[in-house]
Amino acid sequence: MTAVSLPPSLIPTLPGRYYTDPEIFAREQSRIFETMWFCAARSSDLPNPGSFRSARVGRESVLVVRGRDGALRAFLNICRHRGATLCTQESGEVKRAFQCMYHAWTYGLDGKLIAAPNLTKMPDLDRTEYGLVRVHLREWLGYAWVCLADEPPSFETDVMGAVTERLGTATAVDAYGIEGLSVGKRITYDVRANWKLIVENFMECYHCATIHPELTEVLPEFAGGYAAQYYVGHGAEFGEEINGFTVDGSEGFAKLPGVTDEQDRRYYAATIKPQVFLNLVPDHIIFHRMYPLAADRTVVECDWLYSADVVASDRDISRSVELFHRVNLQDFEACERCQPSMSSRAYARGGVLVPSEHHIGAFHDWVTDRIGRAEQ
Ligand code: FES
Ligand SMILES: [Fe+2]
Repeated sequence: MTAVSLPPSLIPTLPGRYYTDPEIFAREQSRIFETMWFCAARSSDLPNPGSFRSARVGRESVLVVRGRDGALRAFLNICRHRGATLCTQESGEVKRAFQCMYHAWTYGLDGKLIAAPNLTKMPDLDRTEYGLVRVHLREWLGYAWVCLADEPPSFETDVMGAVTERLGTATAVDAYGIEGLSVGKRITYDVRANWKLIVENFMECYHCATIHPELTEVLPEFAGGYAAQYYVGHGAEFGEEINGFTVDGSEGFAKLPGVTDEQDRRYYAATIKPQVFLNLVPDHIIFHRMYPLAADRTVVECDWLYSADVVASDRDISRSVELFHRVNLQDFEACERCQPSMSSRAYARGGVLVPSEHHIGAFHDWVTDRIGRAEQ
């Protein structure tokens, strides 16, 4: 990748163009986001039959819909007649069907074509052939994950396996009962940075001492630069004086019922490639989903999940939310500060990773394995 030889402490990053080149981004869309499991929506955002949510997955718009039978299904958000986008709203609810605004082809919540003007004049049209195009969907942790591949990769290996690999056991995440939690707060960040800069940032804590004063106060070991993601099964311990995972270290809420003594007073994190970050603390979960929209733009939707009691009781979650909201703002500002430099000649051959960041090299290898290496 680089002609310059590096001392053993340093390994190279990807060259700058991997973060700016629309052609590389297009390859990431087709070979990463359109082939892997992609977390599209929180299931509870679709409470009733007819509730829908659209999400951009790679180059496609995917519609997630709750059916009359209560099940979630996903479809390409495209009318089968002449291709109009079926739902232009990001979310909403229809009564019993989706009607295309162009010539009024109408689809049931299960995607079947149920009506079209002059249908009786087309007796040879097989309605079952002209339903919405189905997309694979799985629910896990209370989220709907979709996959555009004809033959999806194993959900158990790619998605559940990523969490097991990080937390050390398959049951560690179950303890938090994430599927049953309620969304206490959601903040959407429009980040002017390539999605890989955001993943890389999340994977390392070399920056924690510099940009995250509140977080390092709560998790003192982060000041040393080694993130929870560096070790398998390791949770960073709260500082002695810290009572909860809050912006000022004040008390949070009761630990979630399944959380073990070993997990108490600790922060765990996992990256589920390509676009989810999971943060676990005893009384809540911070769940990030990234929607890469362009080489230099990524929308990040972040949910703060609490027990249903906490959310229903109207208790003040602001100090709890504020901690990771600040972390997010601090991280995204750093990513946005790097993005313009990616096209500089100073970064044409990339930068370097120090030992506490070396595991990011494996992420770079994973990306280039999937999309192929770009010409220098
Ligand atoms: S494009 Fe949808 S009905 Fe014609
Ligand atoms: Fe950070």
